[in-house]
Amino acid sequence: MFKIAVLASGGGSNLQSIFDSIDNGNLNCSVEMVIGSKEGIFALDRAKTKEVETHVVSRKEYGNKTSDKILELTKGKVDLIVLAGYLSILEGDILKEFKNKIINIHPSLIPAFCGDKMYGMNVHNAVIKSGVKFTGCSVHFVNEEVDGGAIILQEVVPVNFEDNAEDVQKRVLAEEHKLLPKAIELLINDKIQVVDKRVNIVK
Ligand code: GRF
Repeated sequence: MFKIAVLASGGGSNLQSIFDSIDNGNLNCSVEMVIGSKEGIFALDRAKTKEVETHVVSRKEYGNKTSDKILELTKGKVDLIVLAGYLSILEGDILKEFKNKIINIHPSLIPAFCGDKMYGMNVHNAVIKSGVKFTGCSVHFVNEEVDGGAIILQEVVPVNFEDNAEDVQKRVLAEEHKLLPKAIELLINDKIQVVDKRVNIVK
């Protein structure tokens, strides 16, 4: 069975979409552990409800050893690390050990509205301010560059004149919940080839 670890920092609705996809028979994997970036986040409650092992690895406690601690927990235990609303940045050996085996969901169409400080509502506020007619979400591999790894899947979402940032967030999040399980399923079935910075999805 393909095993995953999910890293989260907040509500964990994307984590829930993984659990739901497994329960519906659309995703054939097991969530071995959920690692939270702090205590008290709802993502950890969602994991406990599912009787999944949980850990908290906070920057406050581990500082620049945060990624190493996560590597220690995951090495040899999982096939894939999924960042689902995870706000901390991974660095160091984990990126080598799990090369092309860490994915992230980002709530915009990368390379627009991504990178430094582009997380949470900052993304959707910037989208509204810019006047773009479309935004969306992206699942990509994680490398040394923030939001810079090869893009696996993207989904487009319209932005209407009447929308505020919350409206856009809601519309994007609904698509995130479909896109992330879809990307995991492609990886489970070995359908993804990375060529330089580009992903080919094998038919
Ligand atoms: C999502 O928009 C995700 O893309 C971003 O954080 C948001 C919160 O997600 N990185 P969740 O409800 O905690 O999964």
